[in-house]
Amino acid sequence: MAKIIDRKRLVPNIHMIEISAPDIVKRCKPGQFVILMPDEKGERIPLSLADWDEKRGSITCVFMVVGTSTQKLSRLRSGDDIPVCVGPLGKPAEISKFGTVLCAAGCYGIGAIYPIARALKQAGNTVMTLVDAKANYLIYWEDRFKEISDKYFVSSRDGFFDCKDYIPKVLKDVLKDNKIDRVISIGCTYLMYTCSEATRPLNIDTYVHLNPIMVDGTGMCGACRLKVGDSTQFACVDGPEFDGHLVDWNELFYRRKSYFNDEIRSLCYWEREEKPRKMTKEKR
Ligand code: FES
Repeated sequence: MAKIIDRKRLVPNIHMIEISAPDIVKRCKPGQFVILMPDEKGERIPLSLADWDEKRGSITCVFMVVGTSTQKLSRLRSGDDIPVCVGPLGKPAEISKFGTVLCAAGCYGIGAIYPIARALKQAGNTVMTLVDAKANYLIYWEDRFKEISDKYFVSSRDGFFDCKDYIPKVLKDVLKDNKIDRVISIGCTYLMYTCSEATRPLNIDTYVHLNPIMVDGTGMCGACRLKVGDSTQFACVDGPEFDGHLVDWNELFYRRKSYFNDEIRSLCYWEREEKPRKMTKEKR
């Protein structure tokens, strides 16, 4: 059981949740994740750590509302309890002095990449950040990133930032104008795939934080299995950070769609049956 300290919408469809987790916070490292359950019957949701505060004994995650469980999570309020919050899970991101590192992220990944970018800066790297959003009003934590980045770039499709391109095009421009030693990318699978393909011809080390379907998060169920190079890996214990040039992206895209129809059915049921009941209860 863990208590919600705060939950708020950062931008449309993306929320931040701060949870009291004094035992977890002592062991948190950049790149790790936790697994939450919004209620006793809920699904186990893996969420990357976006921040933590040892003094407050709390961890912070950023998530996008995509299905039933994240809908439920987005309705929690400060003071509510959640039945499960386990972590930190996964291997921490590799933090070392690489030289110039470009951190490229979109949607929930903007939050997830923040502690990694901060740790890379503290390790003496030149840190450049590239944030991707469909429109300017979907960008969050700009002030946080500007504070830790030597250069800050945005790719958006609304022309607000004088740029109308999806991340790989802007990434290629940044790589042309700057000498980059390493790229880290976090966001949807397509974003990480396109970033890896953009750096492949230039042979720049590129690491992605993968988000396959997970169940236990401890290497026992096999749900998060993926192919990296010649070997089978489990994202929850061998990752989530992997070499983007070695990931079998086709398999990952395919496996991520495994429960697509069930997810739609579950969401329809939640919208029709459970949500109205919950809203009536909340009003009382
Ligand atoms: S989530 Fe079960 S093995 Fe990774």
